[in-house]
Amino acid sequence: MHHLVEVSCTTDRPRSEVELLADTLWVLGAVGVQELDDGFRAAFVDEAAALLAADRLGATYHRVGDREGLDTWRDHAAVHRAGPFVVRPPWLDAVPGSVDLVIDPGGSFGSGSHPSTRLVLSLLSGLVSPGTRVVDLGTGSGVLAVAAALLGATVTAVDTDPASADAVVVNRAANQVADRVHFTMGDASELEGDFDLGLCNMTIDLHERLGPSLAVDVTTLVVGGILRGEQEARVCAAHSRGVDARRVEGEWAALVLR
Ligand SMILES: C[S@@+](CC[C@H](N)C(=O)[O-])C[C@H]1O[C@@H](n2cnc3c(N)ncnc32)[C@H](O)[C@@H]1O
Repeated sequence: MHHLVEVSCTTDRPRSEVELLADTLWVLGAVGVQELDDGFRAAFVDEAAALLAADRLGATYHRVGDREGLDTWRDHAAVHRAGPFVVRPPWLDAVPGSVDLVIDPGGSFGSGSHPSTRLVLSLLSGLVSPGTRVVDLGTGSGVLAVAAALLGATVTAVDTDPASADAVVVNRAANQVADRVHFTMGDASELEGDFDLGLCNMTIDLHERLGPSLAVDVTTLVVGGILRGEQEARVCAAHSRGVDARRVEGEWAALVLR
C-alpha cells in the first residue's frame, strides 16, 4: 500500500513555490516525487507522514495500491541532461555522446529531475579534473558525488539520511566509481578535512544553518538549491564568501563561491 500526495501549481501558487514544496516532500518522508506538467505527485509508504505532508502543503491525499504508488513514479522516470552528463535511471538506455550517469535515487533526493541538481552538475566539468578532492555536503542519491568521480575526482560524501547511504552504495557501484566515492553518515557540520571543491545543494534555510558551522576547509564552494534574487546574497552571507560564477535555470540559481 502507498499513499499519494498531489501538489498543484495554480495562478496564486507559482511553479517556483511548488518546486520548493517538492523539496519539502522529500524532507517529510516521500519515497518518490514525480514532476507533472501542473505540479508534483509524491508517494509515501508511511500513512501518517503522507497525511502530515498533505496538511502542511495544502495538497490532496489518497491511498493507492503499490503499482499506483512508487512503481508509477518509476515508470515515468526520464533522462535529464546537465552539462556533459545525461542522468538516467538504470532501467532506461544510455544516451550516446554524453557522460552516462546512472542514478537510482531510491528514497533519497537527486534523480536529476530537479533544476538545482542539474545546475550544480553543469558547473562541475569546469571545476573538476583528475585528482580534485571534492566534498559533497548533503549528497542525497550521490548524484553530484558520482558525477565528480566520473570526471576523475576523489569524493567524500555526507548525508544525515539513511536512505542516502543505501542510494550512494548502489549508485557508486553502478557507475564503477566505488573506489573514489566515500560515504559518511552524519551531519555535514561534523565533517573535517581539506578539499579543493565543496558541493552543497540545499534549501536556503539549511545553508544558513550549516554555513557558519562547517568545519571542512574548502577552496571553492558550489552552492545550489537557492532561488534567484535575494537568496543569492543570503547564501553568500551564510558561507562568508563572494560570487565567482553564476548559473540559472528558471527561478533557480547555482553559484560558485570563493
Ligand atoms: C536537496 S538534497 C540534494 C541531493 C543531491 N546532492 C542533489 O544535488 O540532488 C539535500 C540533501 O541534504 C541532506 N541534508 C540536509 N541537512 C543536512 C546536514 N546538516 N548534513 C548532511 N546532510 C544534510 C538531505 O538529507 C538531502 O539528502
